[in-house]
Amino acid sequence: MTGPSTANLSRFEHVPLAVFQTSSEASRSVAREIAALIRARQAEKRTAVLGLATGSTPLGLYAELVRMHREEGLSFANVISFNLDEYFPIQPSNPRSYRHFMQAHLFDHVDIAPANTHVPDGTVPLASVDAHSSDYEDRIRQAGGIDFQILGIGRTGHIGFNEPGSPKRSRTRIVTLDALTRRDAAGDFGGEPNTPRYAITAGVRTILESRRIVLMAWGQHKAEIVRTAIEGPVTPQVTASFLQEHDHVQFVVDRAAAGALTRYRTPWLLGALVDQGLDWDAAMMRRAIIWLSQMRKKAVLKLTDDDYNEAGLQDLLRIHGSAYEVNLAGFYQLQHTITGWPGGKDPRRTRPGDAPVRPLRSRSAGVFPKRILVLSPHPDDDVIGMGGTLCRLVEHGHEVHVAYQVSGANAVSDDALGRALRFVRDSGVAQDADSLKIKNLCETLEVQGSLPETDEVHRLKGLVRRQEVLSAARVCGVPSDRLHFLDLPFYHASPGARRQLGEADRSSMRALLSGIKPHLIFAAGDLDDPHGTHRLCLHALHDALANLRNEEWTKESELWLYRGAWSEWSADEIDLAVPLSPQEVLRRRRAIFCHETQKDMALFLGDDRREFWQRSEDRSRRLAETYNALGLAEYEAMEAFKRYAPDEFLRDLPL
Ligand code: F6R
Repeated sequence: MTGPSTANLSRFEHVPLAVFQTSSEASRSVAREIAALIRARQAEKRTAVLGLATGSTPLGLYAELVRMHREEGLSFANVISFNLDEYFPIQPSNPRSYRHFMQAHLFDHVDIAPANTHVPDGTVPLASVDAHSSDYEDRIRQAGGIDFQILGIGRTGHIGFNEPGSPKRSRTRIVTLDALTRRDAAGDFGGEPNTPRYAITAGVRTILESRRIVLMAWGQHKAEIVRTAIEGPVTPQVTASFLQEHDHVQFVVDRAAAGALTRYRTPWLLGALVDQGLDWDAAMMRRAIIWLSQMRKKAVLKLTDDDYNEAGLQDLLRIHGSAYEVNLAGFYQLQHTITGWPGGKDPRRTRPGDAPVRPLRSRSAGVFPKRILVLSPHPDDDVIGMGGTLCRLVEHGHEVHVAYQVSGANAVSDDALGRALRFVRDSGVAQDADSLKIKNLCETLEVQGSLPETDEVHRLKGLVRRQEVLSAARVCGVPSDRLHFLDLPFYHASPGARRQLGEADRSSMRALLSGIKPHLIFAAGDLDDPHGTHRLCLHALHDALANLRNEEWTKESELWLYRGAWSEWSADEIDLAVPLSPQEVLRRRRAIFCHETQKDMALFLGDDRREFWQRSEDRSRRLAETYNALGLAEYEAMEAFKRYAPDEFLRDLPL
């Protein structure tokens, strides 16, 4: 097998690592290891003590263990389990509790003795938490210690709920949850105010005492923290980094979560690419040139032979002859990503020598005007992620449709709906029954301070967002008969239940696509969305396209992914960069302003408290600065897109 030499790798990676193409393959491999342990212990008539985690990461593992129990006779009769953590305070019957999670995903489906399953108790009185915690440690000890500990990793680098700052010697205890962790969990609890502030968690020391530890991580949104934990220093700021000091640990990750590691991001630092089975193809070359330019703080065309030599990029000089040639090749690649005509140029306005369709590639690249479909997971993602490009596409005369995949009702506060209801009540326009219903809702809000979580309230909240869409679409020039409100049902899963796509979601996407037959599809490729809605929306698109792939129009269509409010593509990933003028930036701002209910919605802001328009502007200005620093023209702002690469993005999204 080719790859970087172990010696070279260990300069960067301080923990043994297995990278699988998909999270299912990875989960199956971990399940096999656990099953082998359980069976070996059965043969010796001994128990196997498992340390278990909750969250989205181990779902595939538990599903595989349940399958092995049903189909391969794997018995859990000799298994004792200890879960890492539990929210505090919380009742075990609460669907968001980790006890409930474990019952639902594993314990209720295998033959483990209920008395052998341990989860910290979220119901003990605060005064008894310390005693409960040390009792938990005693029980682990009495069981003989943990044989196999499963871990996920939080975006703060936490293992269990050992948030940044947790010392290496920490044991089971009550902890305050980090703000980012609470915001990640807020979607499940119906908002940050309802999200628990505390948890009881096994400590770092408790975890490190396990005989074998496997940390699993899936998806692009984990890539940076995985790199920090594996390649960074050992520090209490990233408690997963303590695992570097364990002598029987392994990180098991999928390709997306491994994406930021040196071996993938800058593999030339690990030795010659040929020795690693890699090529200096155009993409790798562009990545290296951008990396070098940014590291040396020099425009691409100013890089010298010395710059390449000193950074270990001699290969590029050998292949191209000189820095001058490499620079030019890299510069043109970057330049060709830029176009002010994201749907291709109107042939009537093409001048001799113009490249009218660059960087479009499909058979329909030269078609003008095009049918274009913009997919917006939430009602404001279109304008936040690509509002400037949307306006351009409309202005250029394309037939632009925008489809809003979910209603966005979950992000409308009771107060925002209350305002709309009071307006209708006081205006007196509502008739009889409706008027009474509205009056009652207004009263409930006034008396109780909140609205009930009924389907009707949910529907009304969705309607509030629909009105905001209509205003924003007017700013962008999209006619209302080209707006499609899909209201995909997966979004309405009850709180605590796992959201998943169903046939109704898929068929709705299929009907939309075959109705429009778009030449270009723009979709949100922002998989960092903490609530997973974007991921599911992209998956719905993927499934629909897979289903429709025999339809003629799909062979001529192209898919471009934009990033949402949370992050931007890095310069080396961008295939299409659309420059915006200062006026276009202002217009986009006006469109984002139409989404009034989303102002100050900290729930959906991740770690960043700025409002969406600020983040959108900052992101697109910074991208323009990045291009400029690389030596390209100086624009006010830019929006960026990546060409659809189904294998990279969709092979196995963690659902
Ligand atoms: C859960 C736990 C946490 C999670 C981590 C990742 O028992 O201890 O450390 O493993 O927060 O969560 P997911 O898997 O949901 O990304």
